[in-house]
Amino acid sequence: MDPIEFIQKSANSIASTMHKLKLKYNPFSEKPIRGNTKFFVGRVSELREIGEILGSAQHGSVVNAAIVGTKGIGKSSMLNIIYYATKKQGHWVVEMTASQVTPRQFLIQLLYNILTENLITVSGTIKSDYMEHSNRILDMYRKLNNYGDKVPIHYPRERIERDLEYLINEVKSHDKLCIILIDEADQFAKKSCLSLLQFFHSFLYEEGILTFMAGSPTLMDDLTKISPPIKDRIPKIINMPPLSKDESYDLIRRRLEDAHIDGAEEFEPFTETAIHKIVEECDGIPRKIIMTCSESISIAIRNGLTKIDEKVVKEAMHSLGISVGHQILNHLTPAQSEIVRAMSELGGSATVTQLAEYLKKSPSTIGTHLSDIYEMGYINKERDGNNVYYRLSKELRDVLIGEEDELEM
Ligand SMILES: Nc1ncnc2c1ncn2[C@@H]1O[C@H](COP(=O)(O)OP(=O)(O)OP(=O)(O)O)[C@@H](O)[C@H]1O
Ligand SMILES: [Mg+2]
Repeated sequence: MDPIEFIQKSANSIASTMHKLKLKYNPFSEKPIRGNTKFFVGRVSELREIGEILGSAQHGSVVNAAIVGTKGIGKSSMLNIIYYATKKQGHWVVEMTASQVTPRQFLIQLLYNILTENLITVSGTIKSDYMEHSNRILDMYRKLNNYGDKVPIHYPRERIERDLEYLINEVKSHDKLCIILIDEADQFAKKSCLSLLQFFHSFLYEEGILTFMAGSPTLMDDLTKISPPIKDRIPKIINMPPLSKDESYDLIRRRLEDAHIDGAEEFEPFTETAIHKIVEECDGIPRKIIMTCSESISIAIRNGLTKIDEKVVKEAMHSLGISVGHQILNHLTPAQSEIVRAMSELGGSATVTQLAEYLKKSPSTIGTHLSDIYEMGYINKERDGNNVYYRLSKELRDVLIGEEDELEM
């Protein structure tokens, strides 16, 4: 067998199975939405809130905001939309990652991003709007470019702060804002970020700077635990709820429409009941919907199917559940893992007493582990009379118990 021909043949056969599914490509990509917004659905009230925040900031009253929501709900996508919308209006926008732990590292990244995302062209020259400041700008840029090299540079924090202030107050035109977008901001809720958070307190009140952070639903609580005054500095919380049923249908419809070959019907290759099942079971979480659709298409391709029915969707959900379940198991300590395995052997749910007897351990040890696992969201708690039952999450049931006795909840 010729390996080159073999690869080509396999690739071609995928293309032809795709065609049988009436698709040009698999439109269910897990990447966040960026500048191309044709797949963006819903979020009208959140977008309105963001618009209002921007409007007030332009008129001098800056209200920093946190965009919060569960995993895969669309936070990064929302930040990207803000990025493109504000860039279009001529504001300075920078995307930051929340991995810089000291104020100095953060400032360096901020300064560098402001320069490269807004003042300097791809080829390394200064944009014409900022020519009159070229000497000082180029000086900063040169220093920062060397920063990654082994060559030590002399760029003390006070100097960085002064340069930043110069940029924001002298170089940036006064009717524009400098907008800082920080994704995965939960990273800041670590003890090691304390000095950075404290630094934020003064920084977040700077004139002309507007900050959006994105993170988990507990982001603000977690940050406040580390550094209480942060709450006053980020007074606005934009909570991202699940998509409605209509929006969920819309999400699927739009992606399929884009990928359809001529003559395909609305939800092809999915059957109506398959789509219904996806919408019902994915709880309005865009990533869940997308992964389920994508996995269903993969299964259809592997099996040479021309239709995706409820059964395929169920299989897709099961295999996704299993992979999530495995990730959870890898994440548990040996003691925690022993407990969830015991729970599965006891049928998927159990009380502290039952587990203590089964594993021959003290109830208090079991209780401590259970509450840790509960905190992480991998098991649920239910009260039945005087007993409290702990029950494995759907993902753990999928991987530990399997499909045979799947509970319809
Ligand atoms: N409003 C929307 N319309 C259509 N698709 C969306 C929407 N919001 C998110 N998505 C899609 O859902 C998926 C997850 O979105 P995104 O990565 O933005 O979520 P997230 O909240 O940042 O997730 P994480 O918690 O993992 O950081 C992506 O594939 C994205 O394209
Ligand atoms: Mg994200």
